[in-house]
Amino acid sequence: MAAPRILVVDDTDELSRVAADVVAAVIEATPAAAIAVATGRTPIGLYAELAARRRSNLIDVPGIAVYQLDEYLGLEPFDRRSLFGWMQQSFLEPLGIEDERVNRLPVDGDLDDGCAAFDRELEAGGGLDLAILGLGPNGHLGFNEPPSGPDTPTRVVDLSPVTIEANARYWGDAADVPRTAVTMGMAQLLSARSIVLLASGEEKRSILHRALEGSIGPEVPASYLRETPGELTVIVDRAARSQG
Ligand code: GLP
Repeated sequence: MAAPRILVVDDTDELSRVAADVVAAVIEATPAAAIAVATGRTPIGLYAELAARRRSNLIDVPGIAVYQLDEYLGLEPFDRRSLFGWMQQSFLEPLGIEDERVNRLPVDGDLDDGCAAFDRELEAGGGLDLAILGLGPNGHLGFNEPPSGPDTPTRVVDLSPVTIEANARYWGDAADVPRTAVTMGMAQLLSARSIVLLASGEEKRSILHRALEGSIGPEVPASYLRETPGELTVIVDRAARSQG
């Protein structure tokens, strides 16, 4: 396990460019990279930057495989709150990624079986080359809510009040946020060969500090990133990182 590379940038524009450089380098080195892609607000600029580079023929991504990071449960297929829909609009379509290269989390049928099959398929493909992650207000990664240990698999979870409140910003009101979700497991994320964690804004400062400098444990799932055997790059803006 190498020491994390912590890159502090001025603002979200720079965060997006620097993150795009890291992602582009992984894809250049591994054109068939298996990638987990977060939704949420923080990586949106990164995805727009990648799409702009693709339009300028600076990168091409026809060979990558995408694994869904998290999804709400209990939604109709085309519900506006679908995180898959969000990933489609922000990442898959702008980058021209074909459906057959996308591995979705299960949202119906026997979910335990579906989650186990998702993990088996990911493992059979060699695991993740890259995980692009945001940081939840309680230190969650995907929807790995505290407490989540490092060996937890892909599974169904209950969302915590803190996460419901934070996700209310996306959909208008806490009442609009589903109460249950499915998340890729900590085990699958932590074994990625490269992980990029993005955090922006003052409201992430204290949880980012706990994740990077606090004690490592299930109460702050992101703290386990410091034990990943892969390469960890943390890209944060000054508002999230300033110690003052
Ligand atoms: C959400 C999602 C995560 C996301 C995180 C941070 O609850 N489940 O996948 O990375 O919280 O979101 P944001 O980037 O909007 O702050």
